[in-house]
Amino acid sequence: MNRKLGAYVHVPFCATRCGYCDFNTYTAQELQRDNTKVSPFTYVDRVIAEIDRQYLELGKNAKPLATVFFGGGTPTMLGSNELVRALNALKQKFDFDLDVEITTEVNPDSVEENDLKVLREGGFTRVSFGHQSSAAHVLQLLDRTHTPGRTWDAVNWARSAGFEHVSVDLIYGSPNETIQDLELTLSQVVAAELDHVSAYSLIVEPGTRLAAQVSRGEVDSPSDDVAAERYVLIDRVLTNAGFSWYEVSNWAKPKGECLHNINYWTNQDWLGIGPGAHAHFDGLRSWMTKHPAAWAQQVDNGQAPVAGSERLSETEIANENIMLGLRLKTGIELSSLSPVANEEAKLAALQGLLDEEQIENGRAVLTNKGRLLADGLVSRLWS
Ligand SMILES: C[S@@+](CC[C@H](N)C(=O)[O-])C[C@H]1O[C@@H](n2cnc3c(N)ncnc32)[C@H](O)[C@@H]1O
Ligand code: SF4
Repeated sequence: MNRKLGAYVHVPFCATRCGYCDFNTYTAQELQRDNTKVSPFTYVDRVIAEIDRQYLELGKNAKPLATVFFGGGTPTMLGSNELVRALNALKQKFDFDLDVEITTEVNPDSVEENDLKVLREGGFTRVSFGHQSSAAHVLQLLDRTHTPGRTWDAVNWARSAGFEHVSVDLIYGSPNETIQDLELTLSQVVAAELDHVSAYSLIVEPGTRLAAQVSRGEVDSPSDDVAAERYVLIDRVLTNAGFSWYEVSNWAKPKGECLHNINYWTNQDWLGIGPGAHAHFDGLRSWMTKHPAAWAQQVDNGQAPVAGSERLSETEIANENIMLGLRLKTGIELSSLSPVANEEAKLAALQGLLDEEQIENGRAVLTNKGRLLADGLVSRLWS
């Protein structure tokens, strides 16, 4: 199979840490406490060293890049010129597909109007803002530092700068979020010039400040029933506004889908650059050293900062394809499932979780009800 190649560049810095977040990211204070000299100011030099090393390692296997994604953390903490410098380093080494998608995640209060111009002129084609909610008290519970209005200013700046593809992330089901709060968020999302929305139910990740608040009883646990009710509302409002779901947590207007994420979900190849970044090439998974200081040390020593790698067994690959593929609107082929899982899929169709007509056509495709229970269904279809 002729797999596409993407590049993920991880930027492990945030101005402050949101209480719910367990991503591999560090505030200046945390880095100081760990006594590291790693900082946003010197980061891109090491990213460039890694791009050069990985390009050499690929040799004649290097393919043109179909997608590039700067994620974090908060990539825009590096400053737009530095992000463009990292992108240019990729361009110097790799060919890019003509219709390459180049995204950066943006925390709304980490950019000014001119930053978005610099990013667009520098070749970025897509920006994804972490908005989360339009209710100030929900943003407060989530420890977000921006006002709700800041996202819409930034979205307008992105549009004026010429970005055709603009996305926002939402978090729903926060314990202090009312249905009116979510309605307000959605009305603002619909009014903004966006072509993509990701919406995630609030997950209490172990070890986070939010988890400690929940265990002390200061904050209620998010409820699954409330999350399901909110999901239905999000889907209805976005669908009426011209978005379609294409993955359980993602909606897009026509041609607004995030190609980089689709490449992950359909098991293509991608490079992983930066601390903790994961990569996949020709069936081999690898992951980079997680802490930025240890990662930087290895890069500075000219070593490959790879913490581990594995080649998945056929069963593991098949299960992963089920886990990722079933969440997509296109679903999965029944022929890729074991005989037992085929029977389970037929049962799931009778239970209203999979589309009965699609089963007749040889595919397992989630119904609206199935989207609410997708994770449970995945384990029923595993080999
Ligand atoms: C790397 S952040 C996006 C960019 C930027 N750091 C920001 O937060 O604005 C990725 C997204 O993951 C989602 N997220 C992270 N932790 C989550 C959690 N515990 N529950 C639900 N969504 C979460 C948020 O929607 C967040 O915007
Ligand atoms: S700004 Fe984004 S990456 Fe940073 S802590 Fe908050 S959610 Fe996590």
